[in-house]
Amino acid sequence: MKIKDNFLWGGSIAAHQCEGAWKIGGKGPAIMDFVTTGSVDKPREITKTIDADKIYPSHTGIDFYHHYKEDIQLFADMGFKALRLSIDWSRIFPKGDEKLPNEKGIQFYSDVIDELIRHGIEPIVTLYHFEMPIHLVTEYGSWKSRKVVDFYLNFCKVMFENFKDRVTYWVTFNEMNHIDPQTEATDIFTYIISGLKYSELEDKPQTLATIGYHMTVASCMAVELGHSINPNFKMGCVFGIEPVYPYNCDPQNIMNAFLQMDRDFYQIDAMCNGQFPQYKLEEYQSQGIDLEVTKEDVLAFSNGKLDFIGMNYYASSVAEYEGADAEKSKLFGGLTNPFLEQSKWGWTIDPVGLRYLLNYTYRKYALPIMITENGLGAVDVKEKVTVHDFYRIDYLKQHLEQMKLAIEEDHIDCLGYLMWGPIDLVSATTGEMKKRYGFIYVDKNDDGSGSYQRIKKDSFEWFKEVITTNGDSLIN
Ligand code: BG6
Repeated sequence: MKIKDNFLWGGSIAAHQCEGAWKIGGKGPAIMDFVTTGSVDKPREITKTIDADKIYPSHTGIDFYHHYKEDIQLFADMGFKALRLSIDWSRIFPKGDEKLPNEKGIQFYSDVIDELIRHGIEPIVTLYHFEMPIHLVTEYGSWKSRKVVDFYLNFCKVMFENFKDRVTYWVTFNEMNHIDPQTEATDIFTYIISGLKYSELEDKPQTLATIGYHMTVASCMAVELGHSINPNFKMGCVFGIEPVYPYNCDPQNIMNAFLQMDRDFYQIDAMCNGQFPQYKLEEYQSQGIDLEVTKEDVLAFSNGKLDFIGMNYYASSVAEYEGADAEKSKLFGGLTNPFLEQSKWGWTIDPVGLRYLLNYTYRKYALPIMITENGLGAVDVKEKVTVHDFYRIDYLKQHLEQMKLAIEEDHIDCLGYLMWGPIDLVSATTGEMKKRYGFIYVDKNDDGSGSYQRIKKDSFEWFKEVITTNGDSLIN
């Protein structure tokens, strides 16, 4: 089997990491507008109000809001077939609980979508990529509340109705699977997804399970709603999954690794199998966690099954176990893998892990998979007119080779490959600009200075060749 001719080659971006213009066009303040710039050693700070002495990178992003035509032109020059972008909820409903949407917000996304279509680029729209109006957190307690599910569905409805003739591929949520009652989390991880800090949660297991459940139900309800508005919609949800390997072949470690990896799958089970998994409900019960499963929820699980699975893949990890003396890896936990290198930010580089994960997931659900994110965050050195990012080409080439094997040798139904951060943008976990992913360099620094000029890196022409040859150039 060859990579199909209609394979969706392209990239993924998120509104809060690129748009900027945080007070323009009627946008309301959203959760990420209260998060400062950090670094690999210094966690991002989350403030209750805006502190004039601190830097909040989402306020300016890379100013995609004003540069989108130029940026889309560059994506088109590379031959992009698709761009995954998110619609910022707080541009459409500035507080989240209004009856009527902000027309200027709708107009902005309508213009962006038109521009993509004009260039033959398929828009793939994410409805929630960490962009919740802050008012829904302060007033309703975020996803702890069922009311927030209703507000989210109203937002989805407005988007589906406005763009039903122009957008086919929808993503209900980005990476909700990081909400996990079993593991210790950092503040930034729970905050990014819910606007709530881990350290401030009252009953952590109960609250995290409730949030995860409500988001899962919301996704299924959005899928059902989308299909009722346009049966041709392709509805997906994106998961950020790391294969978890055992440290050695001790069966106890293998079991342990399996259980750690499995935590990332209960929501996919719920969205693909027609019901919220009984094993999870029983597990919760045994831990004293109580979830309210309504009749409407049961219907939503059975009627709101996904059309495709979105997969964000960056790294694999090694399961921790009691008595382990290996070093722990940064940020995501787990032990360091002696066979693999890490990026400067401590993310394990594991191309074969992509093939493994594609196989694992496809064999579990038999649904098409879209690789919705993959890329290397690195420090780039700008020369006069370019950046020689051979390390990025190397990383992407190795991952694409594994994807090709998964498609051509393992017969995985893969819809597309959307590279994360085709243009440099703000890092979600650290808030830095210095952690760059793009084929296109943006002249902006962590302190906010810079001309915002766009410059093609060496990887730009390389990826163009990959797309033009539909992946054949990877063989050389
Ligand atoms: C993904 C997120 O998990 O990782 C993106 O969906 C994020 O929003 C990406 O940017 C890379 O992470 P970071 O922290 O390097 O930007």
